[in-house]
Amino acid sequence: MTRTLHPLPTRIDTERLYLRCYEPGDGRWFYHASLRNRDHLARYEADNVLLSVENEQDAENLVRELAAEWEVRSSFFMGAFDRATDDFVAQVYVGLVSPDVPEYAIGFFADRDHEGKGYVTEAVRAALGFVFEHLRAHRVRMECDDTNARSIGVAERCGLSREGHVRENKRNPDGTLTGTIHFGLLKREYEALAEKR
Ligand SMILES: CC(C)(COP(=O)(O)OP(=O)(O)OC[C@H]1O[C@@H](n2cnc3c(N)ncnc32)[C@H](O)[C@@H]1OP(=O)(O)O)[C@@H](O)C(=O)NCCC(=O)NCCS
Repeated sequence: MTRTLHPLPTRIDTERLYLRCYEPGDGRWFYHASLRNRDHLARYEADNVLLSVENEQDAENLVRELAAEWEVRSSFFMGAFDRATDDFVAQVYVGLVSPDVPEYAIGFFADRDHEGKGYVTEAVRAALGFVFEHLRAHRVRMECDDTNARSIGVAERCGLSREGHVRENKRNPDGTLTGTIHFGLLKREYEALAEKR
């Protein structure tokens, strides 16, 4: 039997931004974004794919892999760009957790030079639209370190509910222990939020 896949957008526009999947040719700026964000991501996003690249060719290989993952719908890495300047301002990651529910996980970071402008909240709201309306999710989850106030702020502004707090489950490089806050959003809650906006 042939599986029919409904089409997915590869670009989403918001008031100030556009989000798009990575594509061949992105390696050059992606490598520079990687260099620029090393310290910025070290504390809360140490395993981010952006930190795994060591040169421009590595970066080009990675964006092509991420584009291929989008194509087979195993994960969706979106770059968020300023519509006026085309500057890369943030990345949003969406990955399938459970096809039965269906449940997706969402993750994000702001480019170091574009933090504190509301871009991540704007991008995550758009990504939630993609997840609920196009991927037809029933729920989305997100987790973050319990000391990551900026990340908690994004989750709350986007209307996610706190679903749990696991205490002192991570040992940090400086020896301290921190916990994990779990957030979630159901499709009906997303629809109620979208109606209010
Ligand atoms: C967590 C992180 C993504 C938050 O980024 P951010 O830029 O603070 O998030 P937002 O885009 O929602 O911006 C909110 C800030 O912009 C300000 N802002 C300015 N203009 C704004 C506008 N037009 N609309 C909304 N907010 C605006 C808000 O007041 C808020 O500032 P405040 O926190 O000082 O009150 C970022 O700190 C980051 O990348 N950290 C490192 C990686 C990380 O922790 N990732 C998450 C792991 S779970």
